[in-house]
Amino acid sequence: TPRIFSGIKPSGGLTLGNYLGAIKRWVEMQEEGTQSIYCVVDLHAITVWQDPADLRAATHEVAAGMLASGIDPARSILFNQSQVPEHTQLAWIFNCVARVGWMNRMTQFKEKAGANAEKVSLGLYAYPSLMAADILLYHATHVPVGEDQKQHVELTRDIAAKFNHDYGVEFFPMTEPVIEGPGMRVMNLRDGSKKMSKSGESDMERINMLDDADTISKKFKKARTDPAPLPESPEGLKDRPEAKNLVDIYASLSGGTQESVIAEYAGAGWGQFKPALADLAVDKLAPISDEMRRLMADPAEIDRLLAVGRDRAREIAAPVLERTYEIVGLVRS
Ligand code: TYM
Repeated sequence: TPRIFSGIKPSGGLTLGNYLGAIKRWVEMQEEGTQSIYCVVDLHAITVWQDPADLRAATHEVAAGMLASGIDPARSILFNQSQVPEHTQLAWIFNCVARVGWMNRMTQFKEKAGANAEKVSLGLYAYPSLMAADILLYHATHVPVGEDQKQHVELTRDIAAKFNHDYGVEFFPMTEPVIEGPGMRVMNLRDGSKKMSKSGESDMERINMLDDADTISKKFKKARTDPAPLPESPEGLKDRPEAKNLVDIYASLSGGTQESVIAEYAGAGWGQFKPALADLAVDKLAPISDEMRRLMADPAEIDRLLAVGRDRAREIAAPVLERTYEIVGLVRS
């Protein structure tokens, strides 16, 4: 039976990239009736320094964002990673299965570590192994993520295959990444060659889920573009990364495609398209951010929901870890 797992790091506030690349798709999958497990991956966040108070606040914000967007804690399991110790326990097993050479090939590590690879945390290096544990602890078959996570999900398959092979079992499934739709790769508003991220240096490069209407309008108005108008066909977006990004964002927010957006705005100038995009974004995001603020005013209620999710997650996770220990030959007395 299909089972979905996905997660978001509370390493800052939620962005439009997290929403369009992940959460929006999760809500659709929940509506399709697939059993779904969604996690605020706090242990992933601390692979780079997080101020403790900020981490706590971001954990509540990310959980609130998932709830406000339509993740229903009665139908889906919603929890934070550190409350289910089986994640780190399985990650250790996977640290002993995965090869150093595999980690060395992770492009996200190389980007984040840069020239400073000797100085980053050991956790940042081992991160994909913990991510594989998150997914395989639930025998998840599908992982809806943005494009930037594709390589990590492929590594998860490599770990599952090597574990199954080494121990001669058919235990862990071959998980499929689900990466689809125009929102799978939302780019930075100031530089169309970089992804929109929580931690980019300028706030003008991203739309935060908690931005108010004026801020959203201002950021789209100031978004970098080339001077040409919107093309007459989607092929005309080739080699125009900033133009493509704004069209993709519009397509994703409206539930359309590049084709449908171009059909409506072919030949339009940015002076026409950007305000239309800002209005659409405010229209879609304001109800979510209003609900987020309402939820975040009562963190104790969020904690209560996370505790319910934790207990349901552990019901699935504990027997899988126990079976893994048995397969490996660890004595259980
Ligand atoms: P994170 O916290 O960076 O991002 C959370 C989700 O949002 C997607 N995303 C984007 N999608 C499109 N355009 C963007 N600009 C953009 N920025 C972020 C990400 O692809 C992701 O789906 N390693 C993961 C968290 C994680 C996880 C997991 C995910 C830990 N364990 C297990 C799935 C399954 C991460 O850092 O995501």
